[in-house]
Amino acid sequence: MADTEDTNIANLLHEARTFAPPADLAANANAKADIYDRDPDEFWATEANSRLSWFTPYTTLREGEAPHWKWFTGGKINACYNCVDRHVENGLGDKVAYFWEGEPADDKRRITYADLQREVVRAANGFKSVGIERGSHVAVYMGMIPELPVTMLALARIGAAFTVVFGGFSPDSLAGRINDMQCTHVVTQDGSWRRGKVFDLKGNTDTAIESCPSVVTNIVVKRTGNDVVWHDGRDIWWHDMVDGKSEDAASCPCAPMDSEDLLFVMYSSGTTGKPKGVMHTTAGYLLGTSTTHYYVFDIKPETVYWCAADIGWITGHSYIVFGPLVNATTSIMYEGTPDFPDKDRWWDIIERYQATVLYTAPTTVRTHMKWGPEYAQRHDLSSLKILGSVGEPINPEAWIWYRDNIGGGKTPVVDTWWQTENGMILITPLPGVSELKPGAALRPFPGIVAEVVDEQGQVIPPGAGAGYLTITSPWPSMLRSLYGDDQRYQDVYWSKFPGRYLSGDGARVDADGDFWLMGRIDDVMNVSGHRLSTIEIESALVDHQEVAEAAVTSKPDPITGRAVVAYVTLKGGVDGDAAKAKELRDHVAKVIGPIAKPAHIVFTPELPKTRSGKIMRRLLKDVAENKTLGDTTTLADPTVVEEIQRRAALVV
Ligand code: WTA
Repeated sequence: MADTEDTNIANLLHEARTFAPPADLAANANAKADIYDRDPDEFWATEANSRLSWFTPYTTLREGEAPHWKWFTGGKINACYNCVDRHVENGLGDKVAYFWEGEPADDKRRITYADLQREVVRAANGFKSVGIERGSHVAVYMGMIPELPVTMLALARIGAAFTVVFGGFSPDSLAGRINDMQCTHVVTQDGSWRRGKVFDLKGNTDTAIESCPSVVTNIVVKRTGNDVVWHDGRDIWWHDMVDGKSEDAASCPCAPMDSEDLLFVMYSSGTTGKPKGVMHTTAGYLLGTSTTHYYVFDIKPETVYWCAADIGWITGHSYIVFGPLVNATTSIMYEGTPDFPDKDRWWDIIERYQATVLYTAPTTVRTHMKWGPEYAQRHDLSSLKILGSVGEPINPEAWIWYRDNIGGGKTPVVDTWWQTENGMILITPLPGVSELKPGAALRPFPGIVAEVVDEQGQVIPPGAGAGYLTITSPWPSMLRSLYGDDQRYQDVYWSKFPGRYLSGDGARVDADGDFWLMGRIDDVMNVSGHRLSTIEIESALVDHQEVAEAAVTSKPDPITGRAVVAYVTLKGGVDGDAAKAKELRDHVAKVIGPIAKPAHIVFTPELPKTRSGKIMRRLLKDVAENKTLGDTTTLADPTVVEEIQRRAALVV
């Protein structure tokens, strides 16, 4: 099979211990062992009937055939109603929906479900007053402030579709998404807090909108109070928009949407330069996220749950906003970084709110490992019952550190595998059932069928090695297509092995039938749990006027999982230096966003190419990883690699 990103195989061999569920957790768990015996259709139908509230019941559980299915057809439903209104109607109005914690330490809000409803209704009425209506497309470019989930819910309430663009993305990236979806409105804020500094969201939005003719109105939340340039007639302050608007639910009823109406589009890096607009629809997405949230995190009425992701990524959509709110959960939402004002900020938050669940990414766990356990030791973390991991393979060392130092040596660590396209967790332990193996995501969630296949699409039996991870039957919260490009949807996910969803990840199933994820097998890299496209970064580099050619790959990194390595040839045979490397990094940050900056840049007079002129990225990866080189016989000029190896040794 193709090469994987795997960095952990060597590690995996070192940790043979397994961990049974704590007895009290197992005895009262939402999921018992027999959940795996359920028939997928029966399982999803039962969940759909009990977990969601329908304005009109659906008539068909699922229709269509690969790769286009519709779920819950005939049903009428509203995401906001399921997340907010019905809980207030059911007497949960006083329950806390979010303990919101701003980055400035004294900035806190306790938002009950009744508060959330009032804010959402006011925002929805405000949105209507500026021309947003059912079917509108709205781009949202914000930080982690309460107005962000309020915006998503208010748009869902009136039936407008949105795309949330991570606040760290550049104006170019924002503009690309706005134009792809032809958004008429943008919601942003003056600035967001990041380690005590202001990140200029409004300025970035202004730059983006210059190349977005579809945008008529830009709604701006005042958060940081920095100076902003104002465009009269186009910009409107959020507080002016909602001023005097009714907060009475009856003034703006939840629109009865079709199950398959578009809820949002989330853009994600693919193997080409253009990000993919992953489409999620209403009923199936709500069901998949809330059902997995309930069972994987064993949600109880008293749970205090914290998913420490950013809402600008799919993890935040599914597990800070929609999944938890459907389940009427009390969540923590935090605006800032883990080290502001000090490196114990997270543990302070957990202690103060008595959090019972923490869900984060391995890269963050490794960062805390690097800082040392003393920051966690300053706090009482004994409220924690379940720890979750997502975004990349978790190496057993980090898994054990997480359980021991954060989980007091007793909490299960659930390693959840899924993707933007999946909408929900697909492969995961269940904390009251599973015998945990550090580093393994273990089993497909009930209702999900996953198989690992070889190059020919033949299933690789348990214990017989690694291959392509595929999903063989549809699930409710799967992507429906790629926005504006259904052909690409079919090509990327369904063409290699007809009838199988191709995840792009490598995996193996061990002799016990447990799944181990091994990283990407395509041109996508996973850096700090974020997906980056090699081609997208190459294009950004070549976009610099002095760059002739660039090839991008990645290598293992102890903190970020993978680190981006760029090989760059400058025009006119010029050699690069540290200043030029910085300039190129800044250029990538400008074009894509700071997350895509190459960690290492190797200047080279030439890139290794085949005789037909194709860049041999595999060789560059071998160089980056300091491995023995693979086959070099097809190279046009074998001395090129030697030169690159010599130069790479100087840089890394
Ligand atoms: C990787 C994030 C191993 C994987 C929810 C996938 C993981 C990509 C895990 C999706 C995990 C996510 N173990 N790898 N538990 N979780 N991945 O779309 O390579 O941002 O394809 O969704 O992250 O990243 P995305």
